Amino acid sequence: MPDLKIAPSLLSCNFASIASEIADVERFGVELLHVDVMDGHFVPNITIGPPVVKSIKKAANTPLDVHLMITDPWKYADPFIDAGADILTFHIEAVPEPRNLFERIRARGTKTGIVVSPDTKVQKVMDFGGEVDMILIMSVHPGFGGQKFISNVLRKVEALRDRFPSLDIEIDGGIGPKTAGDAFKAGANVLVAGSAIFSQPDRGAAIDAIRKAALGGK
Ligand code: DX5
Ligand code: ZN
Repeated sequence: MPDLKIAPSLLSCNFASIASEIADVERFGVELLHVDVMDGHFVPNITIGPPVVKSIKKAANTPLDVHLMITDPWKYADPFIDAGADILTFHIEAVPEPRNLFERIRARGTKTGIVVSPDTKVQKVMDFGGEVDMILIMSVHPGFGGQKFISNVLRKVEALRDRFPSLDIEIDGGIGPKTAGDAFKAGANVLVAGSAIFSQPDRGAAIDAIRKAALGGK
């Protein structure tokens, strides 16, 4: 299984001071910054577009893991790559036949991966594990930070990990010190955490608690 990576989700940070929020988690050696893009159509919330990702990129020294929760990733892949996405993931529910879009993103020198919402079967993405950089299993219904972890998605993580021992498997939603152990044990090595990090005044302690919980639960 690949190494543990922590990806703070900027959705829960203070957007008015995004550069210092980024610096505040980068000090603690996080491996990725998770950027949630929502279009008010694929999910019932609207967040940010390419201009803000471009500003985030300027402020960041850590690769940007851009999670597209949008209806038309074909239309917006290039603008988000231009803005600085290092990894661009999109949902299988939005693009049921994703191979051509993987190719298009990769042709730009950007990593890619596919995302599975809680109500979608993992079989829909199983065959892509050998061709993507990452598979993201959602552990909440996409749209908002601060929701409760849906633990039965861990079965999907286990099934994927069984078949792809060296794939980056990311889990997103409700991850914190209480859930990170089970998630990592099931085989998720990339842990996204929004509210568990940015709701805490001491981000270093919050990140440390997640790392310890993950590795302790091994
Ligand atoms: C939800 C987003 C998540 C969200 C996670 O749709 O994809 O990345 O920010 O937030 P927490 O960690 O608070 O559940
Ligand atoms: Zn996300």
